[in-house]
Amino acid sequence: MMLLVVLLVVWLNSSSAAKLGVVQTEGGLVEGQSYRMGLFRTVDVFKGVPFADVPGKWEKPKPHPGWSGILKATKYRDRCLQVTLLQTKTQGSQDCLYLNVFVPQGKSLSSNLAVMVYLFGGAFLLGASNDVTFLGDSLYDGKEMADRGGVIVVTVNYRVGTLGFLSTGDARMPGNYGLWDQHAAISWVRRNIETFGGNPDNMTIFGQSAGAASVSFQMLSPYSKGLFRRAISQCGVALSPWALQRNPMALTKKIARKVGCWRMNEDEMLKCLKTADPVGLTKAGKIDVMLILGKGVVMDLLELAPAIDGDFIPEEPRNLFHNAARFDYLAGINSMDGHIFAGVDVPSINSKNANTTVEQVSHLLAGLTKAKGNAAVPSAVSVYSAHWGSFPEPAVVKKTVADIETDFLFLVPTQVALELHAKNSSGARTYSYLFNMKTRIPGFPRWVEAEHAEDLQYLFGKPFSVPLGYFPRHRDLSRYMIAYWTNFAKTGDPNRGDSRVPVPWPPFTPNHRPYLTINHKMTRSSVNYDLRSYYVKYWTETYSRLPAAKKHEEEV
Ligand SMILES: *[C@@H]1O[C@H](CO)[C@@H](O)[C@H](O)[C@H]1NC(C)=O
Ligand SMILES: *[C@@H]1O[C@H](CO)[C@@H](O)[C@H](O)[C@H]1NC(C)=O
Ligand SMILES: *[C@@H]1O[C@H](CO)[C@@H](O)[C@H](O)[C@H]1NC(C)=O
Repeated sequence: MMLLVVLLVVWLNSSSAAKLGVVQTEGGLVEGQSYRMGLFRTVDVFKGVPFADVPGKWEKPKPHPGWSGILKATKYRDRCLQVTLLQTKTQGSQDCLYLNVFVPQGKSLSSNLAVMVYLFGGAFLLGASNDVTFLGDSLYDGKEMADRGGVIVVTVNYRVGTLGFLSTGDARMPGNYGLWDQHAAISWVRRNIETFGGNPDNMTIFGQSAGAASVSFQMLSPYSKGLFRRAISQCGVALSPWALQRNPMALTKKIARKVGCWRMNEDEMLKCLKTADPVGLTKAGKIDVMLILGKGVVMDLLELAPAIDGDFIPEEPRNLFHNAARFDYLAGINSMDGHIFAGVDVPSINSKNANTTVEQVSHLLAGLTKAKGNAAVPSAVSVYSAHWGSFPEPAVVKKTVADIETDFLFLVPTQVALELHAKNSSGARTYSYLFNMKTRIPGFPRWVEAEHAEDLQYLFGKPFSVPLGYFPRHRDLSRYMIAYWTNFAKTGDPNRGDSRVPVPWPPFTPNHRPYLTINHKMTRSSVNYDLRSYYVKYWTETYSRLPAAKKHEEEV
């Protein structure tokens, strides 16, 4: 018996997979840590590798000066300075431009692997490459995806909040510092990933929410030409109404007031902001939900966002799709992406004891369509109540509220981006999906399907790394998503690659608009066409033709 145990131990030790050990990067040597995933399978993890120097306030990222000796890359570094989730204080540091690399290994050392670079979400206000501890591990831990999909996963930090996105809308302080950080990180990966076993010509960027809109901005920027090959947007695009700040100077003045820097003379105001305390500036960027209760909609509070700077984003995002013509693109949304926002704007939708009224629905639509004055409200109400009948079920009205926010904030802009991409493509492919796995968040009404961000746990393989928290159906879904995503990263086609997929996913073209419905039960009928086209048509045709309202008073 003893002998058997000894033999087993010896065999297990000799059966370990290859290890990268110390890796040479442009800044110096780094050494990570190897994690065992299975027999002859490990993942080499490098945490906290610098891709740029500590950035100056409202300056573009600068190259890292490098280091001597071996950098122990075994701990995540600080997130970029930001308000906490409850927004009562700040966390993180200005020294935050680091990334993490996850490299799968088998019996022999990997080489030429496809590479996937992840941009986190968080409303351009919060978040980090190692965000949200999920039973001890980061939600964005790349080990399962790397191991199961056979790709290198890289997760990166970028500046958020006032330090990442404040802008004057002109050359004095152009903004988009967080987008420049992302660009610096992607460029670093391109230059350095080969020594980790990656193929720099086979890179995909992917992200969720503000990270998905960031992916879209990176695709549209003229600076990305030839930098990567493919992109994935999960629940957000550059055309989303919350993804672009159209009046950055007004926001900068508001922040200046909060930190005691408001001056009649703009240049003096900027001089004051430049010397203001970064923590105070970060706190000044917090969003105050109390402000809108009763008036306005949550969307109005998402103010810190990229701006048109005449440089990284040279003009209106919708006029930049020629820059994305060579990137393969996969984009989609969660069926209830807007539910979390809808619940704040119309609290009755989540209440067991209250019904949602037509007045509340029309008030919400008025808030969302402020840009067109009140002109859009009657047509929008009639489009969204068309299926109600004379005595609508209370749940039908409530679900309509979630659908309105999902359409307006996520679904419609994503359909427009897919269409512009497909029309401009020169040989690149386009794929569309709808993720509708029933929510796992307890306490929500029965009609709630996939809430914002619920796709991520499956993509990052949590049903495998935290098996007790999930059922077999969740592992099926996780397997499907990792297969489609990593196949796409390798070949530009989610159906072709090393992983088997449950259903063929046809490409989206200008004349043929299929989308894949992703959940745990996938069959041929998971492929459907023209996602919510009745509503998409309303917003892109009827609504967009309405004239803009007279410019409402600048909020200060
Ligand atoms: C291609 O993209 C441009 C913006 O860059 C857009 O104006 C144009 O409509 C698109 N082309 C087609 C054929 O849709
Ligand atoms: C909500 O509407 C249903 C059906 O129309 C009705 O039976 C119920 O009494 C209403 N509940 C409240 C709290 O008004
Ligand atoms: C990208 O990777 C896949 C799988 O690893 C490989 O089949 C393909 O040839 C690679 N593409 C390029 C351009 O190297």
